[in-house]
Amino acid sequence: MSTTAAIHPPADFAAGARISSRAAYDELRRLALADPEAFWSARARAGLHWFTPFETVLNWQPPFAEWFTGGTLNACTNCVDRHLTGSRRNKAAIIWEGENFEQRILTYQELHRRVCKLANVLLGLGYKKGDRAIIYLPMIPEAAVAMLACARLGIIHSVVFAGFSSEALRTRMDDLEAQLVITADAGRRRGKEVPLKKNVDAALEHCPGIRHSIVYRHTGAAVEMREGRDLDWTELMRGSAESCPAEPVPSEHPLYVLYTSGTTGKPKGVVHSTAGYLLQTQSTMEWVFDLREEDVYWCTADIGWVTGHSYIIYGPLAAGATTLMYEGAPDWPEPDRFWRLIEKYRVNLFYTSPTAIRSFIRQGNAYPERHDLSSLRLLGSVGEPINPAAWNWYHAIIGGSRCPIVDTWWQTETGAILLSPVPGAVATKPGSATLPLPGIDADVVNLKGEPVPDGEQGYLILRTPWPSMLRGLYRDPERYQESYWSRYPGRYFTGDAARRDADGYYWVLGRVDDVINVSGHRMSTMEVESVMVRHPAVAEAAAVGRPDELKGQALVVFATIKGGTAPTSALAHELRAWVATEIGSFARPEEVRLVEGLPKTRSGKIMRRLLRELVTTREVKGDTTTIEDYSVLLKLSGEGKDEEELLLGKPAAS
Ligand code: PRX
Repeated sequence: MSTTAAIHPPADFAAGARISSRAAYDELRRLALADPEAFWSARARAGLHWFTPFETVLNWQPPFAEWFTGGTLNACTNCVDRHLTGSRRNKAAIIWEGENFEQRILTYQELHRRVCKLANVLLGLGYKKGDRAIIYLPMIPEAAVAMLACARLGIIHSVVFAGFSSEALRTRMDDLEAQLVITADAGRRRGKEVPLKKNVDAALEHCPGIRHSIVYRHTGAAVEMREGRDLDWTELMRGSAESCPAEPVPSEHPLYVLYTSGTTGKPKGVVHSTAGYLLQTQSTMEWVFDLREEDVYWCTADIGWVTGHSYIIYGPLAAGATTLMYEGAPDWPEPDRFWRLIEKYRVNLFYTSPTAIRSFIRQGNAYPERHDLSSLRLLGSVGEPINPAAWNWYHAIIGGSRCPIVDTWWQTETGAILLSPVPGAVATKPGSATLPLPGIDADVVNLKGEPVPDGEQGYLILRTPWPSMLRGLYRDPERYQESYWSRYPGRYFTGDAARRDADGYYWVLGRVDDVINVSGHRMSTMEVESVMVRHPAVAEAAAVGRPDELKGQALVVFATIKGGTAPTSALAHELRAWVATEIGSFARPEEVRLVEGLPKTRSGKIMRRLLRELVTTREVKGDTTTIEDYSVLLKLSGEGKDEEELLLGKPAAS
């Protein structure tokens, strides 16, 4: 089988890199696979600050893993306090730029002061280890302060992306049985305000368990403050003491819960631990980003997604980096905002998504060419497969053909990057996340779990546990077992299809379940469907992903409507808006098609596969103003397929 030509690490990059040759890298990987416990144990002892050293490296009772048991530590101490004793004390920990060009720089010392003050506030309000706090904040330094203050006390945080609706916020508060919410008056997006406090107010109507909401005044928007429940961040901080001892927590203490989409309507609360998570996010900062002391590092993700947790906050701060945080949109006020930021702060390491790259390509080369991007040393990509054309553009236009690109594959559940080139050692191929990192035992298998030959498509699995793996789904061990470990007992099923080429390189092809990936945002088709059927006009709905040049995938929803409702384009428009209101505007369907019937199996299961094929391969004529008879099209597109599966559904009540 032929393999794509590889691009070797530039010699000057390799010369200065931590792992600077393929041989050194292979040796590291060999050592890690030969004795994973010795490998991770040595790294954990040397790389983390412990209050009490751990006794056992791994306790693996599939599918439940415990790493570094017997040890106690604190994530905040590891991300902040331990950098205060040497020259990092006055190093910028966070450089922040607001959408309106405001700038704030928090040194490690200043970050420590603020985190301690907020931790004292939380203690004063009666919060303690094991309690749960929702963080619903824009991309401002206070988000980092809030996460770290929780971690300092052993309070489990759950950050909810500020683009989520009040309804999505409420379901997360409920599931987590949270007691506290930390929010802001509003966020900023493309010159507009996002009413965060208002959303919190609506959610709190139904969440009696929340005792307080702490409100940071960011934009100055008018908000209602309910006496006794709502507290002003700045007032609380004013009188708060500047030192606060960190709570030692066991290695396995949950650091956070992050909700992500699964294959049912209900989001999954992915639980991450303290020690294993920190170890692997920190290690990958070194292996994948080849972080140096003087670097300015910028990950453009939002703090509300796992990339923001692992690669804006915990990984970079644990590694003592300077992490840049930008509040706003990439194209605000003009499409060159990212390149302006890179030039202004002399960014060295830049980590973004394929969707962002594709939108930059559309905007044209003039925008990056206006700016001096010569500070860049390394580029990263995450969240979805990167198509070779986008990869090549990124390499040439942004990286000046001198920066290696790390295409990093991982998931909310994996906590840290698992497949990626190590940039000074591993040659890259555009579109491939290349090889598993040290300590990661990946494979591509068929339905029966047998490895498939090189070049053939199969399912991506992980054969052994790794330190930053999820520890479960919040209070739902059955779903944890069922979602990840039931198909291949003892092995982790990623939900992704992949193939491995003759060089052992992995090509991740995308999800094989009912999860779709729109602009790197993971969405459950079932979640969208359950929101759709809550609308009074909708009888049934089926959501599928359609390949999209810009976003990777676009969301298309087919819906049958109840008798007495007219299938107008106004209704289709209203339904798109409905999904946006119920989940968040990032989930607004590209298209809602009002149809007479949905294709079903004899047992009544909607055949999404057929609809997927339909939106992928066929131009469906007509617009959304008319009810279309899909049965003919569906029969056509199903020719030669399984009879049982092709049985078409009867039109819904008319
Ligand atoms: O399908 C894979 C895709 O994103 C999924 C994970 O989504 P999420 O949990 O939201 O985390 C996104 C950020 C880590 C994966 O199952 N994915 C992520 N990175 C890549 C990717 N697909 C191909 N190449 C990647 N580099």
